[in-house]
Amino acid sequence: MKISFTLNGKPVSCDLPSNRRVVDVLREDLGLMGTKEACGTGECGACTILVDGIPRLSCLMLAAQLEGRDVTTIEGLSKSGETLHPIQQAFVEAGAVQCGFCTPGMVLATTHLLSENPRPTREEIREALSGNICRCTGYQKIVDAVELAAEKLTEKGETA
Ligand code: FES
Ligand code: FES
Repeated sequence: MKISFTLNGKPVSCDLPSNRRVVDVLREDLGLMGTKEACGTGECGACTILVDGIPRLSCLMLAAQLEGRDVTTIEGLSKSGETLHPIQQAFVEAGAVQCGFCTPGMVLATTHLLSENPRPTREEIREALSGNICRCTGYQKIVDAVELAAEKLTEKGETA
């Protein structure tokens, strides 16, 4: 099946089995290894990508569902000329990254949260990231990182 979509701002067309999982399309067919697979069953959030700006679990999506969509992976988050997006920078500064396996999904879920709610409370942050599991940090630093990201973006007058 021929599938066309936008990936990190660029048009992509691929000939793929329609039932191929999106996480496999991204990692194996397109070489974008930033999207992680952990549970593979929709429970951990490691494989989160943004589809039309909304967090989706790429281990549960099929290639056919990408047709005509606008997909953002962690590789496409920072603007050109920027080493890290301010949300990624905040995760680094807050010490919210240990093994890093959950981080792309956390950062993309945070991107969606801050696009809808630029100054969330800690409770709102916990709620928004409740589908993303981290086995390392204990979550406090991740919530700190999201607060810091919100501050950074507000200071720059930017939205996520
Ligand atoms: S790998 Fe997709 S939700 Fe865990
Ligand atoms: S930093 Fe290791 S799973 Fe979150």
